[in-house]
Amino acid sequence: MGQTKVLAHRGYSAKAPENTMAAFRLAAEAGADGLELDVHLSKDGEVVVIHDETVKRTTGKKGKVTNLTLEEIRRLDAGSWLHDHFAGEPIPTLDEVLSLTADKGLWINIELKNNKIRYPGLEQAVLERVDRYGMAERTIISSFNHYSLRTIHELRPEMDTAILYMADLFEPWQYARHVGVSSLHPYWPTVREETVYGCQQAGLPVRPFTVNRQQEMRRLLQLSVEAIITDHVTVLLEERRATVP
Ligand code: G3P
Ligand code: MG
Repeated sequence: MGQTKVLAHRGYSAKAPENTMAAFRLAAEAGADGLELDVHLSKDGEVVVIHDETVKRTTGKKGKVTNLTLEEIRRLDAGSWLHDHFAGEPIPTLDEVLSLTADKGLWINIELKNNKIRYPGLEQAVLERVDRYGMAERTIISSFNHYSLRTIHELRPEMDTAILYMADLFEPWQYARHVGVSSLHPYWPTVREETVYGCQQAGLPVRPFTVNRQQEMRRLLQLSVEAIITDHVTVLLEERRATVP
């Protein structure tokens, strides 16, 4: 088993506006192994990278992503809310981020944000784009919508699919197998030694989110989880250098 991968949550979101190219580039420069990001479908069917169903929190403008065209979305400023330095940072398309990861040899964790809005066709649209950039072998598709992961698995059985979940599930590796996914992305407080051991025995990678406390980083590194999703890329990289599992 290789060393624990460092996945930058919404890019290097501790230092740059979440889910923007600035945050993704910064994560790549800092030495992250991969990027985590969230996707929705625009009104005209483009896969866009944003966390919320609406553009309000990160752009200050009103509107649901599903009611806006790509052109309307691209005019928004997703950087100023954090700092003037990032003024004018647009909401990226999934294509842009895939192009960066393909270019830099990074992993990508695409989180389908279809747990509130179904977005018919999102699974196919994401798979098409992953293929277009030759990224199938370095892609993980995760979601809180486990039905959607089943759809991905049916369309592309070899794709790495990961259940996202918040609760301390009973034997989550059995649940994952039942759903038909290949890995688990648990909320970090639910991750116990037995959880990791059970998943490792079942051959299912565990990648906890969103781990920002150093003590937790250390504990999970010692358990040899396959990856950790964090806002604090450099802190985790330093902890990894210092930790012998
Ligand atoms: O994919 C891990 C994490 O991003 C899930 O929660 O709300 O930050 O997308 P959220
Ligand atoms: Mg996410």
